[in-house]
Amino acid sequence: MLTTDSKIEEYISGHIDREPDNLHRVYRRVNTELLYSRMCSGHIQGRLLKMLTRMIRPHLVLELGTYAGYSALCIAEGLDSDNDRVDTIELEDELEDFIMRSLDESEYGKRVRLHIGDALELLPGLLRENSYDMVYIDANKRHYVEYYELLIDSLRSGAFILADNTLWDGKVADECRHNDAQTRGIMAFNDLVAADDRVEKVILPLRDGLTLIYKK
Ligand SMILES: C[S@@+](CC[C@H](N)C(=O)[O-])C[C@H]1O[C@@H](n2cnc3c(N)ncnc32)[C@H](O)[C@@H]1O
Repeated sequence: MLTTDSKIEEYISGHIDREPDNLHRVYRRVNTELLYSRMCSGHIQGRLLKMLTRMIRPHLVLELGTYAGYSALCIAEGLDSDNDRVDTIELEDELEDFIMRSLDESEYGKRVRLHIGDALELLPGLLRENSYDMVYIDANKRHYVEYYELLIDSLRSGAFILADNTLWDGKVADECRHNDAQTRGIMAFNDLVAADDRVEKVILPLRDGLTLIYKK
């Protein structure tokens, strides 16, 4: 069962850490000022990202797909100190002002560095210059396979990849709803990861599906 059932979501929201005020403001601004507000992580996924960051204790994190800056701030909040950093890549330059406001209004914003551009173009340079401990993939669903192929060789052993939307509203397991490019992209990614012996992997059926990948 996916936790998209609104009653379950409401129950979970009432029994986990509350959403920090600044993130609640980002979420409200998303809903009034941006299109596709559903893309924003929100309370439950945001608290999970913070907790996973606490557990992994990365010094350097890479995020593909910033949108409003919500998830980047949750990951930044879970970092041990201001010496740790989140690099986040966003394709749409018209989101830059919105994202910078989200970062400026958070005490954790100084831990986040925004890169505007196409993840596929920026990834090789960032991977050459940095050794990331954790990567959060949440950009174009059609390109998850390419992101993974670029990442997996250059990440160190012991690094984690978290990939969002890997159940894609349940479409990956529904033969009647397989036929769009995004679903096919996610399915190809899931098959690739499943067959890759270099990694350990689990899929959490939270929200739209979150795959946790550990490089052996
Ligand atoms: C699902 S949203 C990200 C949500 C955000 N990570 C969060 O959890 O709040 C996906 C974002 O990826 C961006 N995106 C799409 N293709 C991209 C690409 N090729 N490179 C970088 N960003 C991309 C979109 O513009 C969009 O803002």
